[in-house]
Amino acid sequence: MSAKIIDGKALAAKVKETVRAEAEALPRKPGLAVVLVGDNPASRVYVTSKRKDCEECGFYSEEYALPAQTTQAELLSLVDKLNGREDIDGILVQLPLPQGLDEKQVLLAIDPAKDVDCFHPFNVGQLTIGDPVFQPCTPGGVMEMLREYGINPAGKRCVVLGRSNIVGKPMGLLLLHANGTVVTCHSKTPDMAALAASADILVSAVGKRGLVTGDMVKEGAVVIDVAMNRNDAGKLCGDVCYEAAAEKASYITPVPGGVGPMTRAMLMKNTLTAAKLHQGQ
Ligand code: GUN
Repeated sequence: MSAKIIDGKALAAKVKETVRAEAEALPRKPGLAVVLVGDNPASRVYVTSKRKDCEECGFYSEEYALPAQTTQAELLSLVDKLNGREDIDGILVQLPLPQGLDEKQVLLAIDPAKDVDCFHPFNVGQLTIGDPVFQPCTPGGVMEMLREYGINPAGKRCVVLGRSNIVGKPMGLLLLHANGTVVTCHSKTPDMAALAASADILVSAVGKRGLVTGDMVKEGAVVIDVAMNRNDAGKLCGDVCYEAAAEKASYITPVPGGVGPMTRAMLMKNTLTAAKLHQGQ
């Protein structure tokens, strides 16, 4: 089998177009505040692309680039100020935070109604019981991709590699809510390769290039590569050995141009959701 490519870039453009049209119909522009602490170069790239996404969607956006020496109190005070702003619907504090800052406390301080990342325990709880206000961006983007390509997880064996709070755990929940049978693998899982090879839908979110080899892909499986790694030449790549996997899979996501653009599009969708919420729409 030769896999069909799931075009995340094209789908993200379509999602953003819908978001833009809905945003235009609101009395007030959706507003997103992005907070970056320190000078992690990868984070800087993400923040710049978020600004571009906001422009494309007709959103108001603000960016706060704080020095690495920022104290916990200063960061909490900024979050508090943004919580109180009527023109700001979404607050995103870029992770990871520099050492010395308490990530959990910061995420807890964000007003759950402005938590467009879906990281606040209230929103994680809503997600867990199957009644989410916001979709976690990356797993939500994966679900949109599956829907767009007519792939229904119901009754399928879904294997998720990785158990992070940002991707692996919420990914498992969304697949479970879509009636998939979910197995989550992690660093202590014995024989991950065999479990992966049993998947109808395989999602890899580990961050280790070359992790998913061709023999870990079942004939006809759907392969979703969430990771963003760099190869020796500095080029972006995922966890999956793409050529080998594409020979066996029915559908596969490329890196770049797969899940990444969808994560960003879902952030815009969540900001629109927050804006509607705040404007009583
Ligand atoms: N760092 C890596 N991915 C993300 C994300 O989706 N949201 C935030 N806030 N930080 C991140």
